[in-house]
Amino acid sequence: TLTQAEKTAVATIWAKVATQIEAIGAESLERLFSSYPQTKTYFPHFDLSQGSVQLRGHGSKVLNAIGEAVKNIDDIRGALAKLSELHAYILRVDPVNFKLLSHCILCTVAARYPSDFTPEVHAAWDKFLSSVSSVLTEKYR
Ligand code: HEM
Repeated sequence: TLTQAEKTAVATIWAKVATQIEAIGAESLERLFSSYPQTKTYFPHFDLSQGSVQLRGHGSKVLNAIGEAVKNIDDIRGALAKLSELHAYILRVDPVNFKLLSHCILCTVAARYPSDFTPEVHAAWDKFLSSVSSVLTEKYR
């Protein structure tokens, strides 16, 4: 669980990210697919070229879900329950991929807000994304 200071750090950086949901979502996915091309196998039905309509649309969905988790930081499990079932039972995404996507989101936020991305904010955001990933992968067990 996150400390009060970590929750505050997550909320503060999120307030900035929230103004650029689509751009940050799309860039996170672009980084995912170019650095870890094996992740593209989950999206055979998407046009994954840079800036495509689908990348931007899906990037927005992913980031909006993260926004829901920020808003419900004391009940991430409840906030993402349906998404957790979707990823485990229907999409069957291998849990290792959540670490890769979390890393790409982290890099995107760091690259866009370098002066806000202090070591404390980095650690808090990393811990938060790992809580989100645990919730989205816990139904596999
Ligand atoms: C769909 C969020 C990780 C693969 C979705 C949707 C959301 C979402 C909101 C749309 C659900 C809907 O339309 O009802 C997230 C979040 C993640 C995450 C917050 C972690 C931070 C992953 C990973 C993969 C993945 C790691 C695979 C590499 C997919 C696929 C779809 C999907 C294939 C369906 C796309 C479509 O056909 O529209 N995800 N996701 N997700 N996600 Fe994730």
